[in-house]
Amino acid sequence: MAGAVYIKTYGCQMNEYDSSRLADLLYETHGLVRVDDPARADVLLVNSCSVREKAQEKLFSDLGRLNEWKAARPGIVIGVGGCVASQEGEEIRRRAPYVDLVFGPQTVHRVPALLADARARRPRVDIAFVEMEKFDHLPEPRAEGPRAFVSIMEGCSKYCSFCVVPYTRGQEFSRPFDDVLAEVARLAEQGVREVTLLGQNVNAYRGLRRDGTTADLATLISYVAEIEEIGRIRFTTSHPLEFGDSLIDAFATEDKLVSHLHLPVQSGSDAVLARMKRGYGVAEYREKVARLRLVRPDISLSTDLIVGFPGETEADFEATMALIEEMRFDLSYSFAYSPRPGTPAALLVDDVPPEVKAERLARVQALNLEHAAAISLRMVGRAERILIDRPAPRGRGDLSGRTENNRVVNFPGGAGDLVGCFATVEITEVRPNSLRGRLLSVEGIAESAILKAREAAIP
Ligand code: SAM
Ligand code: F3S
Repeated sequence: MAGAVYIKTYGCQMNEYDSSRLADLLYETHGLVRVDDPARADVLLVNSCSVREKAQEKLFSDLGRLNEWKAARPGIVIGVGGCVASQEGEEIRRRAPYVDLVFGPQTVHRVPALLADARARRPRVDIAFVEMEKFDHLPEPRAEGPRAFVSIMEGCSKYCSFCVVPYTRGQEFSRPFDDVLAEVARLAEQGVREVTLLGQNVNAYRGLRRDGTTADLATLISYVAEIEEIGRIRFTTSHPLEFGDSLIDAFATEDKLVSHLHLPVQSGSDAVLARMKRGYGVAEYREKVARLRLVRPDISLSTDLIVGFPGETEADFEATMALIEEMRFDLSYSFAYSPRPGTPAALLVDDVPPEVKAERLARVQALNLEHAAAISLRMVGRAERILIDRPAPRGRGDLSGRTENNRVVNFPGGAGDLVGCFATVEITEVRPNSLRGRLLSVEGIAESAILKAREAAIP
C-alpha cells in the first residue's frame, strides 16, 4: 500500500538527519512519499526533542492535533520518535493511546517493520539502544540540493549535568571511517558540494579504519577534502574540551574547512561551568579561541548559552555578558535553564526565578543580536564566496546562497542553473534575516554567461 508520510522534526541537526534518512527508508520499503502537509499523508510522524522543557511540551500538543486528523480519516498511523520517545517509551502511549508506534534515535531503521505492525493494528514501542545497527540498515542517502548533513557519530558521553542527551541518545560511538567517506562520496556524485559532519560531540570522533587503527575528526576532514566535488566542509557540534591542536592545524591548512566554528561555551562563569560539569574554565575557552584566531583571523564563532542555571548569581550572569562582549559571537543559541528529568542538575534547587531567567535571556539575546548585526554591516561592500543552494524563496529570478559564516545572501542571478555553483558576490545590503548581494563571478563559468544570467534576472 503506497501513500505519503509527513514527518515533523524538532531539535538538533541530528534529528533533521534522522528524519531525512527515515523518509528515504520509508520510500524504499513502503513506497511512501514525504509530504509537507499532514492532510495529504497517511503516516504522521513526530521526531521529538527533549533537550528543553518547552520542546517536550510541544510534542503532546502536536499529537493532539494529529489525532484530530486521525479521527477524520481512520486508518492513519501516528508515530513518535526522537529523544522524548526514547525517554518516555510506553508512557507516550499511556498519555496518547492513539499513537501507533514509538521509536528511538537508534531504532529509526526498524520503523518499516513497526509500521507494518501498526497497519495490522499491532501498536509497537521499540526504543532499544542498538549501537551502529541503524547505519547498516539505512538506504543510500539521497541528496536534496548541494548541501547535506552526514552523521558521523551518535550519542554523547560527556554527561554535562544539565543535559539529557547521554540518556536519550546513548553513549557516544563513531561510525567507521570508510563508511563516512563512502556516504560523502555518494552524496558528491549526486551534486552535493558542501557537507556538514554531525555529532553531539563531534570532535570526539574516533572512527575505526580498515587497518584497525582509529582516525580523529581532523583526519576525517582531510580525507573528505580529497573528494574533489566537495568544496566546503563544516562540522558541528564541538565540545571545547576536545577542541585541540589537530583541529586548529586543520583550520590552518585545509582551505575547504569554512571559517566558521560552533563552540558552545554555556556560561562565562567558572563556578557555573564547574556545576555544569563542562570540564573547562573560561580561561581555557578563551585560550583555544585565541589560538584558533591566530591561524584563522577571520573565523566566525557561534555558541550556545544557558542562563539561570541553579545558583547563577548576578555576578555569574554579568561574567557571561562580559564574555559575550569579549568574544563577539556571530550567533548564539541561548536558552533559559529548565531541569531535565534524570539529569544530575535536576537534583539542584532550580533557584533562579522564572522572571529573572527571562530577563537575563532577553539581555543575552539583545547583546548577541547587536554583535551579529554589526558583523553583517561590516560585510557590506565585501566580496564573499558563497555556495548557491536554491532559487530564493520569494524569487523573481533571485538566487540564494550562503556565506562561510552561514548567512543567507539573495541576489539577482537568472535561472536556477547556477544552483550548486560556488560564486563570489558583493554584499550590498543587510535585510532583517538575510543579506542582498550582487553576483561578481561564478567558479568555472565565463563572465559572459554571468552577464547573461544577470540580464535574465532583470524583470
Ligand atoms: N553537544 C553540544 C555541546 O557541546 O554543548 C550541545 C548539545 S544540546 C543538545 C544543545 C544545547 O541545548 C546545549 O548546548 C545547551 O545550551 C542547551 N541545553 C541543553 N540542556 C538544557 C537544559 N536543561 N536547559 C536549557 N538549555 C539546555
Ligand atoms: Fe549534552 Fe554536554 Fe553532550 S550538552 S550533548 S552532554 S556535550
